[in-house]
Amino acid sequence: MNLSPLSNSFGLETNDADVSRPLSGAAFAELERAFFAGQVFVLRDQRLTPQQFVAFAQRLGPPEPHVIDQFHHPVDSNILILSNRKKDGQPIGLADAGTYFHTDYSYLQVPARATMLYSVEVPATGGNTLFANQYAAYDDLGENMKQKIAPLVAVHHYGNRKEMNDASRVAASPLTPEQKAKMPLITHPLVRAHPVTGRKALYAVSGSSYGIVGMPEDEAVALLDELAAHATQPKYVLSYAYRVGDVVIWDNASLLHSATLTDPADPRTLWRVTIKEPSTKLDALEVLAPTYAPGVM
Ligand SMILES: [Fe+2]
Repeated sequence: MNLSPLSNSFGLETNDADVSRPLSGAAFAELERAFFAGQVFVLRDQRLTPQQFVAFAQRLGPPEPHVIDQFHHPVDSNILILSNRKKDGQPIGLADAGTYFHTDYSYLQVPARATMLYSVEVPATGGNTLFANQYAAYDDLGENMKQKIAPLVAVHHYGNRKEMNDASRVAASPLTPEQKAKMPLITHPLVRAHPVTGRKALYAVSGSSYGIVGMPEDEAVALLDELAAHATQPKYVLSYAYRVGDVVIWDNASLLHSATLTDPADPRTLWRVTIKEPSTKLDALEVLAPTYAPGVM
């Protein structure tokens, strides 16, 4: 399989794969190695049915349907439709999803290993996804900061710490009261050893993290904000422009990512499948310190 770099620091793509058909064990292993090495891995020129997309995604791990169930694909609920198109005046998918740096499912106890997007329709302008390399962001921290954050455990819940107003286009996509009721408070270490590569990375310092166990809320948010500002500097960021037929897979344990806003009148559609980490790799703690008072939930 020929691989080309997406940037001079991370990201790989290939023209050589066809994932519409079942891959041999050896072929899939090669592809999986490229994915973990690249952190963002792009398979170009794919033509997939919903069933073929999900069958391929399942090779990487168990899919977890998104809490926003009104935009599940009618053929397979493992697919979430991301789209600004409307049919009979009603949206067919989730528009403006995740337009702030975050990592997928960090608000769940078993977070996402990988997110896969299949590009069905690209806008005339924009629509890039930004990826920020959290291995590099961690590596570049000073020793004092590394020691300070090594034992810290962050508190997460669904949402965007920087934008609580549901009406904003950069807020987390709003949940119904029923969906909100399903969302627990979760903890994850601030620095995680990657479950596959073992490399340390900053984890979800932007997005769904709202506090740190045992730390006053203002101090915790200031530290998370400081780390997020460091971790999303342009030197860590790759901006990916989609083509129709791309399958883009990213590693949620070593990246933050952000969608970018597009013109609502400029059609774009992506299908998304999110793959959970294997549950045996659980590193979330189940008990919250009594000092933490949950915020917006
Ligand atoms: Fe996301």
